[in-house]
Amino acid sequence: MRSRRNFLKQMSGAALTVGAAPSFLARALALPQSGSIDMPGEDGLIVRSFRFVDLETPVEYFNTWLTPVPHFFVRNHMHEPSELSGDLTNSDWRLTVGGEVDKPFALTFSELSRLETHSVVNTLECAGNGRSLHRPQVPGIQWGKGAVGTARFSGSRLRDILQRAGIKPTGKHVMFRGLDEVPGKVPAFIRSIPIEKALDTDTLVATHMNGAPLTKHHGFPARVLVPGWIGAASCKWLTEIKVLDWEFVGNFMSPGYRFPNQPVKPGDAVKPEDTHPLTALNVKSVIAGPLEGASLKAGKVAVHGAAWAGESNVVKVEVSTDGGTSWNPASLGHDQAHYAWRLWIYEWKAKSGDYTILSRATDSEGRTQPATPAWNPSGYLYNAVDQVKIHVA
Ligand code: MTE
Repeated sequence: MRSRRNFLKQMSGAALTVGAAPSFLARALALPQSGSIDMPGEDGLIVRSFRFVDLETPVEYFNTWLTPVPHFFVRNHMHEPSELSGDLTNSDWRLTVGGEVDKPFALTFSELSRLETHSVVNTLECAGNGRSLHRPQVPGIQWGKGAVGTARFSGSRLRDILQRAGIKPTGKHVMFRGLDEVPGKVPAFIRSIPIEKALDTDTLVATHMNGAPLTKHHGFPARVLVPGWIGAASCKWLTEIKVLDWEFVGNFMSPGYRFPNQPVKPGDAVKPEDTHPLTALNVKSVIAGPLEGASLKAGKVAVHGAAWAGESNVVKVEVSTDGGTSWNPASLGHDQAHYAWRLWIYEWKAKSGDYTILSRATDSEGRTQPATPAWNPSGYLYNAVDQVKIHVA
């Protein structure tokens, strides 16, 4: 393991500085699902891509309501900005606000930090979480179940910043630009959200996560936090906010992060005009223990995990220990907040045998996790009933 870790470290350095790595190297870096890495500040996460840092949280870490930052998944489309460091007092970093506004302006980091602060506990999930579970498989980062985490994000309300600039009646969408270092011809990370969501009192320009300044992986010095929506809406390393009279058109809005308007047969192609941009997350639960393949002793077994529902609330989690024939209610954890997951637990008296354990969440809109996922060509929003197979001796 040790030498493998050293190898991974060396390869990481190589890949991160080389940028456009030759394809054989890129292939060599496609790591097995069980690969884990010693990366400064990131503890035991699964490496899904080295070229750009893509780290997944092992499901067994989903046992605290707030995910510690070193355990929080990381999703980067490009290289993290190399220029930004911890002290921004004399830095060139500015957050510009412009477009369809009366008074465009720019904020230094100290000016941003002096605005009124607000906190939101939010479950952030990558739209591609669970992609590897779709059948037939689809291209893209092969996330397992752990491209999701919950944190308390703090910063200023986006609406306060926009209202200071004065939104013109023509302003219908708000665009964000990140400072990612773009290799070759890859387009910059720019996306937009509708003005209604931008003006929501819980949509933030966040500077802190779980009470500490954002780390580089998570968007230092400032990121957008669009609560309840797919992670891609929450632009990291924010440098520009622009009010538009149109929805932004670019790689990360189209073809990226779109969903078919109608259900699709697994394997079918979808025309771009028959798709819409992804917004809020689905209802979903994940079993954090026992783990897939576990061999346990007969007796009391705690089946536990987390469940979330984007902009809506989880009202029920059920567990089946007989492959879905019968369902039992799980107890929901005390900690809750509008956009945050609920931890849950079901105490099971296990007898010896082989079992398929299932979990199924229902939300306040009446949505329940389906038995089979809604297949789509990019593998977004996987939310089928979760399952683990275990053995009780
Ligand atoms: N913002 C920028 N600038 N660049 C990115 O690659 N990735 C997005 C989003 N914001 C991304 C970004 C995606 S796809 C996700 S899921 C979240 O950041 C992940 O946030 P995290 O890395 O803090 O967990």
